[in-house]
Amino acid sequence: MRVTIRAPRPSDAVPYAEAVRRSAEHIGRWNPVEPDGLQDLLDRQGPGLRTFLIVDAATGGLVGKCNVANIVMGRFCNGALGYDSYLPFAGTGRMTEGMRLVVERCFAPQEKGGLGLHRLEINVQPDNERSIALARRLGFRHEGFTPRMLFLDGAWRDHERFALTAEEWPPTGR
Ligand SMILES: CC(C)(COP(=O)(O)OP(=O)(O)OC[C@H]1O[C@@H](n2cnc3c(N)ncnc32)[C@H](O)[C@@H]1OP(=O)(O)O)[C@@H](O)C(=O)NCCC(=O)NCCS
Repeated sequence: MRVTIRAPRPSDAVPYAEAVRRSAEHIGRWNPVEPDGLQDLLDRQGPGLRTFLIVDAATGGLVGKCNVANIVMGRFCNGALGYDSYLPFAGTGRMTEGMRLVVERCFAPQEKGGLGLHRLEINVQPDNERSIALARRLGFRHEGFTPRMLFLDGAWRDHERFALTAEEWPPTGR
């Protein structure tokens, strides 16, 4: 594996800010660009939100970030994945490798250090081709279309909804 995943920590603040600033143009069309947002993210970690950093194994550089958000346990055991990749690693396949590790961790039972989830969702704006390609590479199924789902860049944006359940992981033929 070229990458590992781990929880963010306060000492990531500077490299995180640099990675987000470097990647602002690439991220900004689809997600908020918040270089100074790591502390807020750390403060919000809890039962409903778990963040993973994807780290380049050779250099320790930040490849990307994945939030597992809106986690609901009980009879749902569901979470929604939101992610960004950072330059210079974007487009090298490392983000996909890291996301596979995140999905693995999400579906692993809690007693084995996982999140114990059963279903994961990815919601993507219809013309975000790179994100849709990533969802499909991970084996996510297209479930439907959700109008006016998220308030992004000043407007309520439509999203395509992709999902994966634990029974479908790992995808066959990978
Ligand atoms: C969506 C996003 C996270 C995808 O990340 P990425 O950096 O493209 O991810 P990867 O590098 O794993 O993508 C694989 C790409 O690298 C290429 N690649 C290069 N070397 C590779 C290798 N050794 N192995 C696998 N793929 C490789 C693949 O061909 C693929 O390119 P393609 O999509 O043009 O076919 C990224 O584009 C991003 O941050 N976008 C802005 C924010 C965003 O849209 N977030 C999601 C909102 S829903």
